[in-house]
Amino acid sequence: MRRAMGWAVMALGLATPVAAQSDAVPRIVTRAGRHVLMVDGRPFLMLGAQVNNSSNYAAALPQVWPMLDRIHANTIEIPVAWQQIEPVEGRFDFSFVQTLLEQARAHDKRVVLLWFGTWKNTSPGYTPDWVKLDNRRFPRMKTRGGQDHYALTPMARTTLEADKRAFVRLMTYLKEHDPQNTVIMVQPENEVGSYRNPRDFSVAAQALFDKPVPGELVRKLGKNPGHWQAVFGAQADRAFNTWYTARYIDEIAAAGKAVKPLPMYVNAALAGPSNVPDPDGVASGGPQQDVLDIWKVAAPSLDAEAPDIYDRASGNVGLYLNAYARADNPLLVPEIGNAREFARYFYEALGRGAIGFAPFGMDDTGFFNYPLGARVLDAGTLDAFAGPYGAVAGVMRDWAQAAFEHPTWGAARPDDGGDRETVMGDWRVRAEFGQWQFGEKSWTWLKSEPAPWKAEPVGGVAVIHLSRDEFLLTGDHVRIRLEPAQPDPKAMVVRVEEGHYADGRWVMDRVWNGDQTDYGINIVDRPVVLKVTMGRYR
Ligand code: DGJ
Repeated sequence: MRRAMGWAVMALGLATPVAAQSDAVPRIVTRAGRHVLMVDGRPFLMLGAQVNNSSNYAAALPQVWPMLDRIHANTIEIPVAWQQIEPVEGRFDFSFVQTLLEQARAHDKRVVLLWFGTWKNTSPGYTPDWVKLDNRRFPRMKTRGGQDHYALTPMARTTLEADKRAFVRLMTYLKEHDPQNTVIMVQPENEVGSYRNPRDFSVAAQALFDKPVPGELVRKLGKNPGHWQAVFGAQADRAFNTWYTARYIDEIAAAGKAVKPLPMYVNAALAGPSNVPDPDGVASGGPQQDVLDIWKVAAPSLDAEAPDIYDRASGNVGLYLNAYARADNPLLVPEIGNAREFARYFYEALGRGAIGFAPFGMDDTGFFNYPLGARVLDAGTLDAFAGPYGAVAGVMRDWAQAAFEHPTWGAARPDDGGDRETVMGDWRVRAEFGQWQFGEKSWTWLKSEPAPWKAEPVGGVAVIHLSRDEFLLTGDHVRIRLEPAQPDPKAMVVRVEEGHYADGRWVMDRVWNGDQTDYGINIVDRPVVLKVTMGRYR
């Protein structure tokens, strides 16, 4: 099996010797609807953590690294602000970027840079003063009533050129000072768009709105040509702003990639998962799930659009992940709340082939974005993230490679605590939550207290279907049962191995048997990676 996997990987050009590719620029490879992030020429799973918004200064970094180590993160997501690198027009200061690169290397972390430019949660807050104070040169949007709106307009060439120039300088700095690719991805802008004003109503913007929708967009969306109103109806203002915002960012990303072609993605301030958003309430222009197709046409230079998840409801999280895990969109969760209950969605994300995951607000600067995330990062909260990350950290490249090659599935405990199950080939995989490791719920003759975590929002599992009868899995607070999908009295679990990978090969550390497998495979508060072999006796 392992050899077969190796051949498949060679065929994809993924398995050239590590040394030969160690200076390869990171990239995302897509094949047969699956995606993999390549770092140093090898598959990489981003076990990320995003810092708080103002931790992008050397003074804050000592409060950052211990937190990343504590949860076994391999990647830091951290802002670089336009105001920080170009405080005076044309004069650039990359001292923070240099400090960050050096410290990240010393702490053995990779970096995802968040470019806080024209838009940060839609606002111009992180632009330099010479931008935010000069509304003539860098105009804000106009409202329907002709007033200035707080957000900068995506229609202004001046703003685009200035932002692009600074971004290109940043990418040039990386090209010249980061040959070892400590920075593995870049996020141009942050939660773009505009709240409470679905588009620019300035005279110039109105003139464009009165023109037909660009032919390329209607063609690729399979719609009839026409004006914005006719093509998009109630969402016309938003579709218009989405197109121009995405084109704006595409131009910035393309210019940056021309210097150094790192993977680039934009993140979304999400709207409700199951309804069409109110155009005035949503961050109009951003890559919410219902306008992803517009982004795909408008911004071909981007590798992904990505959801920022702060919705705690398990059903909604599943809908969001489904919406962003597409054949043309690698799933990346660049932000998720850092409250304990969000940690279990790591498994849901892995199950959909995610290339990375990052709880937000992971530093010790004393700031907490509750109620979005945790009230405080106590030991239980940190353990909830550290457990899964710690289990996967040592095999993260092997996991990423296997997930690229084979079907995956993941489940987090649903809010009602019910079972989750799927069928993978000949086998049914079921996840049950809130049980002790020993014994069956149905037993009446041996009484027990309910497991203390039974009502807690913890538990999940991620599974890779390695071959017909082989599975790789990890999880916590879960009982996993593998059974034949069709009744087969001769079918059985043959072997459950706890182990690790060495040089791309699975190495068994011990075999689980007896109590460890008689009641399903139970992983509670010590997440591990297991290889399970199923079979049938003759
Ligand atoms: C999403 C944004 O992208 C983050 O920068 C941050 O503002 C969080 N929301 C809220 O803490």
